[in-house]
Amino acid sequence: MDLLEYQARDMFERYNVPVLSGRTATTPEEAVAAYEQLGVELAVIKAQVRVGGRGKAGGVKLARGAGSVAATAREILGLDIKGHRVELVMVSPGADIAEEFYFSILLDRASGGYLAMCSIEGGVEIETLAVERPEALVKVPLDPVEGVSPAVAKRIVTEAGFLPEDHARVAEVMVRLWDVFSGADATLVEVNPLIKTGSGSIIALDGKVTLDDNATFRHPDREQYKESSGDVDLERQARELGLGYVKLDGTVGIIGNGAGLVMSTLDVVAGAGEDLPGKPRPANFLDIGGGASAAVMANGLRIIMSDPQVRSVFVNVFGGITACSDVATGIVNALEILGDEAHLPIVVRLDGNSVEVGKAILAEANHPMITVKNTMDEAARTAARLASEGN
Ligand SMILES: Nc1ncnc2c1ncn2[C@@H]1O[C@H](COP(=O)(O)OP(=O)(O)OP(=O)(O)O)[C@@H](O)[C@H]1O
Ligand SMILES: [Mg+2]
Repeated sequence: MDLLEYQARDMFERYNVPVLSGRTATTPEEAVAAYEQLGVELAVIKAQVRVGGRGKAGGVKLARGAGSVAATAREILGLDIKGHRVELVMVSPGADIAEEFYFSILLDRASGGYLAMCSIEGGVEIETLAVERPEALVKVPLDPVEGVSPAVAKRIVTEAGFLPEDHARVAEVMVRLWDVFSGADATLVEVNPLIKTGSGSIIALDGKVTLDDNATFRHPDREQYKESSGDVDLERQARELGLGYVKLDGTVGIIGNGAGLVMSTLDVVAGAGEDLPGKPRPANFLDIGGGASAAVMANGLRIIMSDPQVRSVFVNVFGGITACSDVATGIVNALEILGDEAHLPIVVRLDGNSVEVGKAILAEANHPMITVKNTMDEAARTAARLASEGN
C-alpha cells in the first residue's frame, strides 16, 4: 500500500524525522485557508497522487500571497498526472533549499534483504542518476536486525560524500528514517529530496512510503489509508464481475486462464522487466478462468485498463477446454465492445487447443492494438518493453 505524500509526512513527524508543516486542501478556498494558517509568505502547493514525477508534470508549484495560492491550487487540482486525477493538494511553507540529497531504504527482492541508497545529488529522477552515473548512488546492504544504526549511518554519509560538517545531522535523520521503515513495517521509505537549508538544517522535503500489506494485522490504525486507496475500488469492481483479480503495483496488465499460468506469467514479466528502464512489473493478477467469452474478456480488459498505472497488457492463454479460437474471437469482440476504452497495446500469446485457428482470427482482425507472439518469453519481453516505453 502506497501512502500519499502528506500521509508519509505525518508518519515522519511521529517518528521525529524533521519535516515542514503541511495542510491538505481539496479546493482553492481550502488552500488559501491552509496558507493563512501556515502564516508564511512563500508556500508550495503539491499534488497528492500516488505517482512519481509530480514536479515535472506541473503538480508542485510555489506561490506567494493568497491570490497566487488560490490560482495555483486551482491549476493543480483537477490536473491529470499520468492517469491520476489530482483531488487533493498539500500546502507547505516554501523552503530555503541550499542542497538536495537522496536517501531511501527498501526491501531489495534481488538480494532478499534490506538496502539503503543514498546520493548527494538528489532532487533529480533517481532512476536516471542510477543509469547514467551509478557511481553517484551509494548502495549499502542492511542487516535486518541492526538496520541503520548510528554506525551504519556514519558509513553511509561518508561513502556518499557528504561534507564532514553535515555528517552528524544527516546521519541522525537516516537513523530516524530506519525507525519509520521498521516501525511501520514498510517495504520502501524514500526521501527525494532530503534537503539542507541555508541555515544548515536537514529536512525531509518529500516522502514516499510503501507499507507491507502482509503486516496490516499489526497496525490497526492502517484502515485510514485503505479507505482512500483506489486499488480497493478496482478489486471490488472485479469481484462484482466475478473475476479473480488482485491489484499489484506495476505497469504491465496481465490476463491469463488458470491461477498457475497467471502466477508464472507474473514471474516471467517481472523477469523480463528487470533490465529495462523503470523496471516494469506486473500490474495485477487476473485469472479469467475457463470460459474466455467476449464478455469476460471485455470485463477483464476494462478492469485492467482502468488501472491508471497500466501501460501495456499481456494476454496469456493456454487453450484447454476453451479453444484458442474462442479466446481469439473473445479478444477481437472485446475490443469492439470497448471501443475507445481500449487505449493500451495488447500482447497476446496463445497456445494449445486450436492455436492455429486462434492466431488466424487475430491476424485476420489485424487490430492496431494487438501484437501476437509465439512464446510466453517473447510476449513477456514485448509487453514489458511497451510498458517501459509507455512511461
Ligand atoms: N517546500 C518546498 N519549498 C521549496 N521547494 C520545494 C518544496 N517542496 C518541493 N520543492 C521543490 O520541488 C521539487 C519537487 O518536489 P517533490 O520532490 O516533492 O516532488 P517530485 O519529486 O516532483 O514528485 P515525486 O516525488 O512524486 O516524483 C523538489 O526537488 C524541490 O526542489
Ligand atoms: Mg520527490
